[in-house]
Amino acid sequence: MTSSDHFGVYLHIPFCAHRCGYCAFATWSDRHHLESAYLEAVEVDIERAVQEGMPPASSIFVGGGTPSLVSADRLASAISSIPRYEGAEITVECNPDDVTSERLRELCAAGVNRISLGVQSTISHVLTSLDRTHDVDNVQCAVECIRSVGISTFNLDLIYGTAGETVDEWRSCLTELLQHHPPHISAYALTVEPGTPLADQHGRHPDDDDQADKYALADEVLSSAGLANYEVSNWASPGHECRHNLLYWRQGNYRGFGCAAHSHEDGRRWWNVRTPDRYIALVSDGASVEAASETLDAETRVFEELELQLRLREGVPREALDGDVLDGLVELRDDRWVLTRNGRLMANEISTRLIVPPTVAGDY
Ligand SMILES: C[S@@+](CC[C@H](N)C(=O)[O-])C[C@H]1O[C@@H](n2cnc3c(N)ncnc32)[C@H](O)[C@@H]1O
Ligand code: SF4
Repeated sequence: MTSSDHFGVYLHIPFCAHRCGYCAFATWSDRHHLESAYLEAVEVDIERAVQEGMPPASSIFVGGGTPSLVSADRLASAISSIPRYEGAEITVECNPDDVTSERLRELCAAGVNRISLGVQSTISHVLTSLDRTHDVDNVQCAVECIRSVGISTFNLDLIYGTAGETVDEWRSCLTELLQHHPPHISAYALTVEPGTPLADQHGRHPDDDDQADKYALADEVLSSAGLANYEVSNWASPGHECRHNLLYWRQGNYRGFGCAAHSHEDGRRWWNVRTPDRYIALVSDGASVEAASETLDAETRVFEELELQLRLREGVPREALDGDVLDGLVELRDDRWVLTRNGRLMANEISTRLIVPPTVAGDY
């Protein structure tokens, strides 16, 4: 498969048992009655796209929301309806409490070969502060189930910087999870998203210096355990990097199904209506589910490409940055500027210095 054959499919499941106070994703805890109609609409939408010539997927990502909350056979049926290459990476996000061998076997039969578990923390008061409802002991059970059905690549999602979390607690969370030998970890700094309950609770907002210390600690502990950083917030053992996310970060083409899902094709981006109710109604009317779109001009596209590359282990071409003045924040590797650990903490600031080469912009 050449890189131009890479095509991603994202499927959004907008249901959660409970809404976490920090979360701004398009998800609802009071619309479970729509589940069946929603999954049916998603399948109809996929069928239409296939009839219109949607290419086979090299990766599929089922995210949310909480995909593990919906009926496994209905989800498996929606996943099975997506044409894909043999060996495609197929990920489903799961809550550790919902993982059972039966559920995973049904998903495996539809081709699922990667699980992303929303662990967030192993410290009880941190989980409470994050409004998480899962039981920490279930993380170990979930990992055992994943392995027992033969899925060898999985991710643990973590959040650091929650109010009241000490540096020692963050260290023990990481070391405890490493005992399960996860091949991939995503660790995100808690972000205050506008409009969330957390945004109104100023006393619980994270502290930048504390988050910087915890990022450095995570990188030290994870890299010593053989998980290499390959994107600012992602670490993996060799060969376990998430191919679907890499496709996003390399500006590949992808199609999103379900409410609020985003799509991209050669510089045109569009996104679907936000609520499941609207999505179901539009699909059943045979109407477009697109809410809005934008087409990037050549310069913006090149700038975004560099911005995303900068966050990756491969870095940016030498001419795209005056790295000599960014002492200790970038280093030259194979004629490319790559962020150091300290640089990764300042990725946003450094990206404002990226230089779009006029000749490259002209290629688009
Ligand atoms: C699509 S979300 C949800 C997946 C799943 N529903 C869950 O919560 O376990 C994927 C990940 O984004 C991260 N996340 C969501 N909101 C965040 C925030 N405000 N700050 C930092 N990380 C966040 C969490 O680690 C979460 O697991
Ligand atoms: S973080 Fe996950 S479980 Fe919590 S509300 Fe958001 S999508 Fe749902």
